[in-house]
Amino acid sequence: LRTAALIVAAGSGSRSGRALPKQFEPLAGRPMLAHSYGALSRHPAVDRVLVVIGAGQERALAAILGEVPFVIGGATRRQSVANGLAALADMDRVLIHDAARPFVPPAVVDRLLAALDEAPGAIPVLPVADTLLHAGTAGTVAREPLRRVQTPQAFRLDAIRTAHATWTGPEPTDDAQMLRASGGEVALVEGDTMLDKVTYPADFAAAEARLDIRSR
Ligand code: CTP
Ligand code: MG
Repeated sequence: LRTAALIVAAGSGSRSGRALPKQFEPLAGRPMLAHSYGALSRHPAVDRVLVVIGAGQERALAAILGEVPFVIGGATRRQSVANGLAALADMDRVLIHDAARPFVPPAVVDRLLAALDEAPGAIPVLPVADTLLHAGTAGTVAREPLRRVQTPQAFRLDAIRTAHATWTGPEPTDDAQMLRASGGEVALVEGDTMLDKVTYPADFAAAEARLDIRSR
């Protein structure tokens, strides 16, 4: 089976408080995008990595990674993923990953791809640690059955293409919800806090601290 990794890096990082889109900002000594690109391209099960960047970011990408395959994204994450999926030929499986999650533990990729033997989709999840409040009803939401969802998310390519093409709901925040809506089963595997997303200004230092602690 041929496996591609699709890294979506076409967002503007508006919540990050940084001058550049966050995936081009330095993190632990390298631009954020270089971390996940390196981890995914080094993984023995990954045959090809494709990066989705914003229009006009071609030179920024080349400055970081040299001449690597890329496509231009769209106005939403969903559109950026769709543009990438359309450019993947001769592949059987795809790992769809946010550039905003710089550190990709190889063991998570192993778990995801193993789970694809049994289901058309697989996602890394972790339990929720905080108390959860529904702001509308002011009621506490039982957190025990809830999970927080990370990327990479792994799919059989034909299944996720169909899910994207048939989605009619509001703007989704990940790809697995589209697969589920199209009738595809999504397996849950154990995620990793190393995969937590860099979204807000303080998340850059938090990510660096996680890397520092893990590599001791
Ligand atoms: N993304 C993308 N194309 C878009 C929007 C987002 O490829 N039109 C990517 C981002 O680059 C990021 C991932 O999707 O790697 C997750 O999105 P998010 O964390 O929301 O990043 P941004 O949209 O860039 O940030 P913000 O929402 O704060 O503007
Ligand atoms: Mg966004």
